[in-house]
Formats: sequence, C-alpha cells, structure tokens
Amino acid sequence: MLLGITGGIAAYKSAELARIMVRENWQVQVVMTPAATSFISPLTFQSITNRPVGVELFDTSAVSRAKHVDLASFPEVAVVAPATANTLSKLATGMADNLLTSVLLATEAEVVLAPSMNEGMYHNPAVQDNLQLLRSRGFFILEPAEGELACGVEGRGRMPEPAQVYNAARDILEKNKDYTGVRVLVTAGPTRESLDPVRFISNRSTGKMGYKLASAFRERGADVVLVSGPTNLTPPEGVETVLVESTGEMLQEVQKRFSRVQVVAKAAAVSDYAPQKSENKKIKKKDSLSIELRSNPDILKNLGEQKAGQVLVGFAAETNDLLQNAEGKLRAKNLDLIVANDLSEEGAGFAGDTNRVKIIRRDGSIVEVPLMDKLEVSHRILDEILPLLQEQ
Ligand code: CTP
Repeated sequence: MLLGITGGIAAYKSAELARIMVRENWQVQVVMTPAATSFISPLTFQSITNRPVGVELFDTSAVSRAKHVDLASFPEVAVVAPATANTLSKLATGMADNLLTSVLLATEAEVVLAPSMNEGMYHNPAVQDNLQLLRSRGFFILEPAEGELACGVEGRGRMPEPAQVYNAARDILEKNKDYTGVRVLVTAGPTRESLDPVRFISNRSTGKMGYKLASAFRERGADVVLVSGPTNLTPPEGVETVLVESTGEMLQEVQKRFSRVQVVAKAAAVSDYAPQKSENKKIKKKDSLSIELRSNPDILKNLGEQKAGQVLVGFAAETNDLLQNAEGKLRAKNLDLIVANDLSEEGAGFAGDTNRVKIIRRDGSIVEVPLMDKLEVSHRILDEILPLLQEQ
C-alpha cells in the first residue's frame, strides 16, 4: 500500500489510517508532499510504518536511480488521504512537481483519492471538473463527508473517517483478487533449436507479452508457473519460473504440470521446426549449406487433445488474414480462446511494450482490445478467461 498525504488539516487523521493498515499487516509506504509536512511530521508515519517516509523528489543520498519509479512499482493500491484541491488539479493535468505527484503519474496501481477541503473549494467547478476527469480515467474517488470543517463552517468536504478509507482500499484489493487459488500455467518467449554448439534457429519473440500475462495472473491472486524460453526479462515476482531452451524441453515442462492446472495460456512463440540433426562440433564455412529441418511437436495441439476441463488459451501472431488464421487455430487445437495479434500493425507484436489484439471466443464472437500497454492487454485477456473458468 502506498499512502500519499497532501497538505490539508485532515492529514492528522492519516496517522490513524496508517496505524489501521499496519495493524492489518499491510506493508505501508508513506509519501508526503512538502506541504503535508507542515501539518504532521514524517517522523510520526515513520514510527507507525517502520519505513522511511518519502518527501524529497531529488535526494542525493538515495541509493536508487529513480526513486519515484521504484516507489511507483511498489504498491498494489495507492491511497491519497487527504487529497487537496491542489493535488487533484495536478493529477488531472499530469503534473509531477513533487515526489507524490511523480509517483502517482508513474504507477500502474489503482489509486483511491479522498478529497478533503473547504466546502466552497469542493463545489468549485474547477475542482468538480478535475474530479470528473480523474474518475473517467479510473481513479477511485471517495465522496467527502458532511460535517464541521476545520474552517469553522458546516458542509461537505471532510475527509471520511480512517476506517472508511481503509475499507475502500481493502475492497479494491479484494476485488482485484478474482483469481485467488486458481492454478495457471503461462508459456512465454521463443524456443531455440540448436544447429551446432554456437548456432541456433529461433524467432523474434521477446517474451514480453507472456511475462506481463504471468504478472497479471499473479496480481489477481493466481498461483502461476511460467515456462519461458530464452529472454532478457526478469522473472516476475511471486511467479515460479522454469527456464527452457528447446521446444522439446518446453513440451516436457508443460506436460508435467498440465493435469494440475486450470488455465494454460500459451503466449510462447514456439519454433515449428528443428534441425534434423544438431552437430556437436561447429559447422565449418562452406560455399553453400543446406539444413534439413524436421517439424516439432505442436505443444498446444497436444494439450487440446488431452484437455479435461482446463481453459486453453492460444496466441496467434499473423502477418495476414488475421481472423481467419486465428479462428482456424482455435478450432484445430481445441482452444477456448485465441488472442490474435496482427504483426503488420504499428504498436502491436513482439518487441514493443504495447499491443493491440483481438480475442476470439469459441462461438466466433470477437473482443477488440485497442492499443494499450501489454499489462493492460493481459488484464483484458484475464477478464475473458474468468467466465470460462467458472463454467468448467
Ligand atoms: N504452438 C505450440 N507448439 C507449436 C507451435 C505453436 O504450442 N509447435 C502454440 C503457440 O504457443 C501459440 C499457438 O500455438 O499459442 C499458435 O502459434 P503460431 O506460431 O501462431 O501457430 P502455428 O500453429 O505454429 O501455425 P503457423 O506457424 O503456420 O502460423
């Protein structure tokens, strides 16, 4: 949990909020705006959370290269309580002028905002427009309570009680755990087929889509095994990662686990062919060279033939006739869903951080997922898998 505190009088209530979160065994990282430190000391939060409190954006004593980026990847949910009119306005325009606004701009976590201010400020159209915009961008806004405000008047603008803010954050955490206890196997990356001790044939897959998919399952509470071909990526936290090289090894690792999992998502770009023979000495230079290839087993097709209640999700990377080819694979491999990827489209495909896909269901209906970050695409895929899992 990242607890952001901005400069309003309600900041004193956030000490109680931090205490509740810590009592519930959450790891709480507090980040304060400089203005918040005029209302309550960072030392108060450091003592409650047992962690240093972030305030300074530029800090030469920090070990990390980019503190705001590290902090942004830390939380599952971020709560800003109190959220002043000033900070709401900065979030709406994408400003990053202090550590907290920078972290919130960089984070992929869901953000809960607890606006707290004088009633006149709260009803000002500028503030209301900002809240509307933030809501439309997916921020979760807690309605301020009515009552006596610090400025002496009665009205709407009070930060909700710490227990209510805590409940809202807990609800979001629990909603996001819709895969709790589900056993999932994801494959990622290319496979490599050895030609000789120094050479191999492979493909351009980077593994990014499969790794993001594994992270998305993990974030939502699944037990995830990732069987990965060679990539430059760091294994996702909390995911059992099994590294393989060839198609044969991937087949073996997948087969071993198939009967124990409920979902298989095969994002790997499997080499369809392998050299008939792998030389154990380096092949020397000649005028010309022919390599005879044999076809590799189709891992997913094998699973489709054996499946007993598992949800099978395939990926189809195509350069032409996208839907027709992808739907053909869905039927031929007995899949429940196929994610079709048009490699000819800008921003889609192997190397980038974004993707634009079409998810095809067994009944032929299609969900179009617009261009977005691969983690977001993964969550859309998970949203489609969940109802199928409940049908099994
Ligand atoms: N796949 C597999 N084993 C193979 C080939 C593919 O498990 N030997 C899986 C991939 O992981 C992917 C799906 O099948 O989920 C489709 O892969 P793709 O390479 O697009 O299709 P192919 O069946 O290999 O057909 P083609 O190469 O002709 O497009």
